[in-house]
Amino acid sequence: MKDASNGNSAIWLLLWEVINSLPLGLSQGITKLYFQALTWKQQGFHSIQEHLEYNKMDVKILPALQDNYMYLIVDKATKEAAIVDPVEPNTVMKAVQEHGVKLTMVLTTHHHWDHAGGNENLVKMQPGLQVYGGDDRIGALTTKVKHNTKFNIGRLNVQCLFTPCHTSGHICYFVTAPEEGEDSAVFTGDTLFLGGCGRFFEGTADQMHHALIEVLSRLPNETKVFCGHEYTLQNLKFALHVEPENENVKEKISWSKQRRQEGKPTVPSTIAEEKLYNPFMRVMEPAVMKHANKTEPIETMKAIRLEKDSFKG
Ligand SMILES: *[C@@H]1O[C@H](CO)[C@@H](O)[C@H](O)[C@H]1NC(C)=O
Ligand SMILES: *[C@@H]1O[C@H](CO)[C@@H](O)[C@H](O)[C@H]1NC(C)=O
Ligand SMILES: [Zn+2]
Repeated sequence: MKDASNGNSAIWLLLWEVINSLPLGLSQGITKLYFQALTWKQQGFHSIQEHLEYNKMDVKILPALQDNYMYLIVDKATKEAAIVDPVEPNTVMKAVQEHGVKLTMVLTTHHHWDHAGGNENLVKMQPGLQVYGGDDRIGALTTKVKHNTKFNIGRLNVQCLFTPCHTSGHICYFVTAPEEGEDSAVFTGDTLFLGGCGRFFEGTADQMHHALIEVLSRLPNETKVFCGHEYTLQNLKFALHVEPENENVKEKISWSKQRRQEGKPTVPSTIAEEKLYNPFMRVMEPAVMKHANKTEPIETMKAIRLEKDSFKG
């Protein structure tokens, strides 16, 4: 309560008196909310949780840390569930209990602390979890996967997509319902963001081009995109700098601003949407190549990533 020590102290005292004069239940409720808000702030609360229900799968969006997302994927038929990047194990276990699902696996996109840092504690809380990932640096890893490794969450199909560049062992998880043409979603970690892509910490423009253009762009257009961070508005500012005339960028910016004002996540988008406004998915477009002063997509990828690394919107 650092505000109480400055000029606002009179207001705080007055407020405190008012709260204390309320019926006990109400004043306790308000105090609880206040401390809940403090806890959220300390944990870097950034968005409300959202629970999305599709035909065969549910996805619970669990915000974590400053701007990370964890995702609880539930097979509706069996209630079996997997968690993507469980950096906050307590939040995960709370959601598991609240929704009465059976958590059996962890899908790790990459070894960075803000994605894989909760694996060991989660396994302590729920022994026997299968921990999937594509990198030996991932804590509590039980099953190392490669490109096209397949497994199931209940009846849902999971296909691993090897997308090295941000890190050399990065995996995206493509999840589909049992029947073709039903729900599909891809969990892209720090490879593909809404409106952007991850930094090239352990890879090259050639690898990111492969990941975004050869792998992710070829998924069905309607595939929902769930990424690792809430970076959408910053990314779209850069997208507008690259393509000032692109109406799809402008529309997505005003939609995202609205969502953020309400404290709501901007995920998911779809593969089709990303192709319309994400400059890194559009490196073959003449307007994007022209902005980069290049005539070739991989050179364009390299140039715009370099430009974004120091872009101040
Ligand atoms: C997928 O969406 C893009 C626009 O985002 C469109 O240009 C393309 O034709 C679509 N592909 C199919 C197969 O519908
Ligand atoms: C393209 O060239 C112009 C003019 O030389 C320069 O101002 C701009 O920064 C270049 N763009 C990139 C992305 O390097
Ligand atoms: Zn990362």
